[in-house]
Amino acid sequence: MSEMLSETALDQLFRTARTFNAWLPKDVSDEQLHQLYDLAKFGPTSANCSPMRVVFVRSKEAKEKLSPFMSDGNRAKTLVAPVTAIIAIDYEFYEQLPKLFPHADARSWFAGNQPLIDATAFRNASLQGAYVIAAARSLGLDCGPMSGFDQDGVNEAFFAGTKIKSNFMINIGYGDASRDLFPRSPRLSFDEACKIV
Ligand SMILES: Cc1cc2nc3c(=O)[nH]c(=O)nc-3n(C[C@H](O)[C@H](O)[C@H](O)COP(=O)(O)O)c2cc1C
Repeated sequence: MSEMLSETALDQLFRTARTFNAWLPKDVSDEQLHQLYDLAKFGPTSANCSPMRVVFVRSKEAKEKLSPFMSDGNRAKTLVAPVTAIIAIDYEFYEQLPKLFPHADARSWFAGNQPLIDATAFRNASLQGAYVIAAARSLGLDCGPMSGFDQDGVNEAFFAGTKIKSNFMINIGYGDASRDLFPRSPRLSFDEACKIV
């Protein structure tokens, strides 16, 4: 049986973790990005379908390619963030199922059923994006998720000719808590959001 994480770990993952808008000038290495994915990939998805694809935008050239598609409120902080992860969805995820779910013919559950493909891809890739946030925080990195961008533009610039589409983005690095960090907004209480039946 697993042990409960320490209070410090719970703070780092959830209670004191924030959405950052300003970034310290400290790089995120290839190794850290590999570590991040190699944690996040273990988060569960239905039939292990793993539809998330990620482009880690880090070079100056790639940031400049991304920049025109960011909303005005998201552009400047994205340009200075050490890395911007484009969390994308592969709508042909089911082609990987013979490898990912080898004990059943799971590919045949999806091929040709577009509504099921769409719902499964969006649900599971979004979950995987959340696993990326948890993985980044576990590694001592901070995140700034964003959905304010021109999705069609990003799809054309980064995923042309594929069945991969952007979902949301996450700025990743070391957050600067001294700038542009708004007061924590309230959350719904247990009784407002949950029921035990
Ligand atoms: C999927 C998603 C999309 C978001 N889009 C934007 C965005 O486009 N621009 C922005 O400034 N913040 C964006 N946010 C940040 C949220 O407003 C922020 O995470 C939320 O208010 C909680 O803040 P906290 O983590 O500091 O408590 C987004 C967050 C998520 C998870």
